[in-house]
Amino acid sequence: MITKSKDELIARLAPAGFTFSQFQLVSEGHYETFDADWNYKDIPHLNALHKLVNSYPSSISDDIVTSVNLQTVGGFILPMIVVNYHSGQDRQTYYTSFLNLLLIVETHWRSLGPNQTRVETSYAIGSRWYLKFLHPIVQRLITKNYRQLMSEDLPMRERRGSLRDWGYAYRTDGPPHSFAATLHILEENMVVKREMATPAPETVPTAQLDGARAADFFTNRSDHWGLRLRLDNGHLQVYPRMCPHEGACLDEQPIERSTVRCPWHARILRPLATLAYPFAPDAAPVDLRHHRLVPSPKGLTIEYKDAPLAEKADPTEQAPAMTL
Ligand code: FES
Ligand SMILES: [Fe+2]
Repeated sequence: MITKSKDELIARLAPAGFTFSQFQLVSEGHYETFDADWNYKDIPHLNALHKLVNSYPSSISDDIVTSVNLQTVGGFILPMIVVNYHSGQDRQTYYTSFLNLLLIVETHWRSLGPNQTRVETSYAIGSRWYLKFLHPIVQRLITKNYRQLMSEDLPMRERRGSLRDWGYAYRTDGPPHSFAATLHILEENMVVKREMATPAPETVPTAQLDGARAADFFTNRSDHWGLRLRLDNGHLQVYPRMCPHEGACLDEQPIERSTVRCPWHARILRPLATLAYPFAPDAAPVDLRHHRLVPSPKGLTIEYKDAPLAEKADPTEQAPAMTL
């Protein structure tokens, strides 16, 4: 496969009378270079997470995606044909055009140290010389759009950075990510990198469970050990605090019709368990993949299992219909 970098494309277009204005925008954060690569290849988050863009891919492979993006700019929806491809080590290139203007973008990421990454995105706005007066206007719009995108993307990358601090990693770390593989949102891509101490059992007393009617009760922390308890219509529902696909925190997501929608890729998660409440004196324990729930008149005892993270989801779980 032949790929051309931004500079190679510019070199080809310059003799055709195109003149380019170039600028760079930079972000840094607490995450690994793999997280930047994943974020820039990740197709489903565009529609699930970003507010100003909806993407309609027409072809997707490991190295390239072509799509029609509907991008909101200044309140107007701008249809853009976007070609986006892996263009080298730690690098991705994309280009589009609108009216008489061309836009070629290249994103490059590099490590600043453990779990610290810098991403440089270079933009080249191109046109014939007589439209060059439009370049500063386009640059302002792009800069504004970049800030909005980063306000949505950076928390996602930094969440992955926090999970890495806790000892997690991703099965997909290492080789460049694949655009096509990001569509498999029922996969469970997290692995435990460092040995993690299995938490000690804890008992949530009945008084606190009663309070889970007004406000959810959260146990442990927002990883695969953490649980969210909700009392609803005589049932105690037990939800995960972390999405098993790529580790999104689910704590702020509303529970609607007994489901939680993951904020990153819109996977729909059902309760891990539903227990009749108040607990009957002879209520049986419930075994989950990572927990054993032991109801008693005193409350709910949560025991933690040292079970590996699975790579495949519960086969009965549903992915939402994706608008691709
Ligand atoms: S992290 Fe991808 S669906 Fe939740
Ligand atoms: Fe994004």
